[in-house]
Amino acid sequence: MDKIIKWGILGPGNIATLFADDLQLSDRAILQGVASRNLDKARDFSSTYQSHTYYGSYEELADDPDIDVIYIATPHPFHCEQTLMCLQKGKSVLCEKPMGMNATEMKSMFAEARARNLFLMEGMWTRFIPATKKLLQLLNEDAIGELLFMRADFGFKSDAGPESRLFKKSLGGGSLLDIGIYPVYLSLLAFGLPHEIKAMARMTKSGVDSYCSMLFGYADGAKAVLESTFEAETPTEATLFGSRGSIKLQSRFHHSENITITLNGEEQNLKLPYRGNGYFHEIEEVNDCLLNKKTESSNYPLQTSLDLITVLDHVRDEISLSYNS
Ligand SMILES: NC(=O)c1ccc[n+]([C@@H]2O[C@H](COP(=O)([O-])OP(=O)(O)OC[C@H]3O[C@@H](n4cnc5c(N)ncnc54)[C@H](OP(=O)(O)O)[C@@H]3O)[C@@H](O)[C@H]2O)c1
Repeated sequence: MDKIIKWGILGPGNIATLFADDLQLSDRAILQGVASRNLDKARDFSSTYQSHTYYGSYEELADDPDIDVIYIATPHPFHCEQTLMCLQKGKSVLCEKPMGMNATEMKSMFAEARARNLFLMEGMWTRFIPATKKLLQLLNEDAIGELLFMRADFGFKSDAGPESRLFKKSLGGGSLLDIGIYPVYLSLLAFGLPHEIKAMARMTKSGVDSYCSMLFGYADGAKAVLESTFEAETPTEATLFGSRGSIKLQSRFHHSENITITLNGEEQNLKLPYRGNGYFHEIEEVNDCLLNKKTESSNYPLQTSLDLITVLDHVRDEISLSYNS
């Protein structure tokens, strides 16, 4: 493989534009190709982000022999099928979160990647920003003593209509999978897998959750209280409480640039800026892995994605959120 990683973008929508901005910050990556179901849209995106080429179908992108890795940025119900298609055509994949709609889908994606010895990772960009690295360091050092409980919320008021990705069932709508995934991920990072999960939700007429609250219990007695909603602007902060103090990831916590550590009533504020829109760091992780011929990130392994979706599946059972109908 060349020293420069050649990226493809599949599904040039909202998130793909932020990602493409950050791709331009990397001196080890170029945007080789972009694919939309609409050729004119692919051409426009290609000219804005100086892609070498563009396609009017996703399959053509995956067939391009010059592309090393494809970033899948479509709504979640398409992730599994499109990831399998890209892997089967010999491409490594970075797939947006949630990487699959459920654990069964995800396991089939892992099996395909492993059988073909190809790189696969979920686009959990939060894992790679400087604030998360600092949080992990603080937790490893037992900076706030024994962890007792955490709180995290993610909420905004959405005026999007029932046909939008956020609310339409066939597009994987609902707050849990779209934004609730972030507090759940943070709880996994801090506490690991819960042994008890309780959840309640309010459902929309379209049958997806517009509000979801979760309470997780852990074997050592720790607790996590988590929320997601499209109904109201909420602080979107995360605080971990320990026997000696607390660590707060300031809003929005999933791409925080400010951490407040409180010990014995004294506050210390840390500034931890990320580069670009924050996606630069996950892009560099993928570049590193590919340049070092790794098929999995040791910082965000596939098992973590599986743990995450397993917890989300369990929460969905609790709130009777099904995507089958
Ligand atoms: N990491 C983050 O911070 C972050 C933030 C937002 C979203 N996300 C994730 O990124 C994914 C995409 O979110 P988004 O807000 O960017 O979505 P979006 O703009 O609504 O859609 C992205 C693209 O998906 C393609 N697409 C393919 N089949 C489609 C269909 N049947 N209906 C609608 N679009 C279809 C469209 O591309 P073409 O028509 O051009 O082919 C569309 O432009 C989601 O899984 C979401 O969870 C991540």
